[in-house]
Amino acid sequence: AYHGDTIGSVSVGSIDLFHRVYRHLLFPTVSVPSPVAIRVPDGHTKETWLAHCFEAAEQLIREHSRTAAGFVIEPLVQGAAGILVHPEGYLAHIRRLCTEHGIPLIADEVAVGFGRTGTMFACEQESVQPDLMCMAKGITGGYLPLAATLATDEIFAAFDGPPSAGRTFFHGHTYTGNPLGCAAALASLELFRAKNVLENVMELERTARETLSPLLEQPWVGEIRQKGIMVGIELVHDRNTMESLPAEQRTGHQVTLAARRRGAIIRPLGDVVVLMPAPAMPVELVRELCEITVDSIK
Ligand SMILES: Cc1ncc(COP(=O)(O)O)c(C=O)c1O
Repeated sequence: AYHGDTIGSVSVGSIDLFHRVYRHLLFPTVSVPSPVAIRVPDGHTKETWLAHCFEAAEQLIREHSRTAAGFVIEPLVQGAAGILVHPEGYLAHIRRLCTEHGIPLIADEVAVGFGRTGTMFACEQESVQPDLMCMAKGITGGYLPLAATLATDEIFAAFDGPPSAGRTFFHGHTYTGNPLGCAAALASLELFRAKNVLENVMELERTARETLSPLLEQPWVGEIRQKGIMVGIELVHDRNTMESLPAEQRTGHQVTLAARRRGAIIRPLGDVVVLMPAPAMPVELVRELCEITVDSIK
């Protein structure tokens, strides 16, 4: 998982390539296996592996129920890990377990929030209400920097009271509550409503799925993972075995260079070509982006 680059957020993430160098600075955390069945360990089928992931989460939460400060999750889709789409029911499963064991559920909606998975927030799709929710990126449509942390009334109440009670949350940043950022966020939220951006997302989702579908015939396209308008196209040496391509070929990077020559700036995560169009993009633009991606991969 990836949750950001401060020591706390690196500590709850686990992307070795990004985090290896800081390991000695991090505080101890425990993690559960990511519930995706792309390359399942020997002895497992996709089904048994996913069942194992559900059980492993249950076991770990039970084991640490008295000491865990929280369970942090990227709901529905792990972005920086390669657009890993979680199976239906996993988020609700984690919510149930956290509630049962009294552990706050922290939903990191920084990447998935504001329409990217098809609903305003990813948590809605499994009727999950987290205890804390982190949001950024899409809150201003990406135009100005702003982030927010939402808390339940119960958590908020722990910091509420007269100054003499000493409960104040003394933790802020230079640009906390930046008025220009907040104005951009309010304007963006108004546009979301007025322009039916969520309906546009549904159309973009269909367009991306259809336009990228010819790639499924390419032997070096292992899979196309998509949730809403978050897309990861995994390039592999052999789609039957999902054997990876040699890292030194930097195939994902080569694809992005080919796309750039055709007029689109996209980025890879290793050999996963990532598309994350903005929710308000016109359909024609997303079709063009996907066509360029298809041509660049062929
Ligand atoms: C899921 C997720 N959480 C957190 C972050 C980091 O957010 P920030 O840079 O606002 O700390 C990112 C950035 O890409 C992200 O994808």
